Amino acid sequence: MKDFISIRDFDRAAIDRLIAEAEGIDHHQYDPLEMKGKILALLFFEPSTRTRMSFEAAMARLGGTSLTLSSFEASSMAKGETLADTIRVVSGYVDAIVLRHPREGAARLASEVSSVPVINAGDGAGQHPSQTLLDLYTIRQSMPIDGINIGLLGDLRYGRTTHSLTYALSLYDAVIHTVAPVGLNLPSGLVHELRERGTEVIEHEHIEDVIKELDVLYVTRIQRERFPDMASYFNVASSYRITPELLSGTKEHMVVLHPLPRVDEIDPRVDSLKNARYFEQSHNGVPVRMAMLRQVIA
Ligand code: NCD
Repeated sequence: MKDFISIRDFDRAAIDRLIAEAEGIDHHQYDPLEMKGKILALLFFEPSTRTRMSFEAAMARLGGTSLTLSSFEASSMAKGETLADTIRVVSGYVDAIVLRHPREGAARLASEVSSVPVINAGDGAGQHPSQTLLDLYTIRQSMPIDGINIGLLGDLRYGRTTHSLTYALSLYDAVIHTVAPVGLNLPSGLVHELRERGTEVIEHEHIEDVIKELDVLYVTRIQRERFPDMASYFNVASSYRITPELLSGTKEHMVVLHPLPRVDEIDPRVDSLKNARYFEQSHNGVPVRMAMLRQVIA
């Protein structure tokens, strides 16, 4: 049984294998009836468009079926049932479970009580491993991951995509540049871990200070829903914005990524520049998640 809970569960060979498989799938190397008779449960206790729908699309493309539960209110958890009991029950119905939950550690807990594999589709400010795989896949479409200078901009404190991505980058030879509004830096424990692993992490105050050095710019949204109060959110809201003007003079091949949804951190005028790769990135969720499902559901 194979769970995907944290990117720490992967080594570089496992990531490279999944990326290669996603590439094959992109070239139609899969059997559209491979998952016939298999059932995937999607338990999404936080909003989602891309992650949920691309897992559903991935399962459908492989000939399988998905069962989706998309809120606490619509489930017996509204009656007081625990997550553990919900998982015990659902794992008796399906072949694998994809879980998104507001609490960090929820996916790990689920994997301990589930009788089928569990994929973490985001646990609070914790991890988001399938997003990282598609982020790496998207980078690899443009350049080798080894040797890149990548800038992470935005809410690096609560943004789980950057927590997973930075760890994965420590398996490669990448230099990580961070730029975050006050109080939203990468957690210091994670920075320490990355440095211990030999990854260079350089903190900058302004994106202008580093943008010309970057091969990849990974922009993130401020995670409003994780703030303790709205006043502290409004202190940092709209404090950075990528514009065509800011991108002029950057490396020709630099790609701009964003896990999406964006709020106001990327000017829509950037969308038509060749550097903008965030919509391709979201499309890559389907082949990457097909590769993951193949690995999890034998
Ligand atoms: C991200 C998430 O849910 O962490 N979205 C996604 O899955 N593409 C990023 C975000 O919500 O900002």
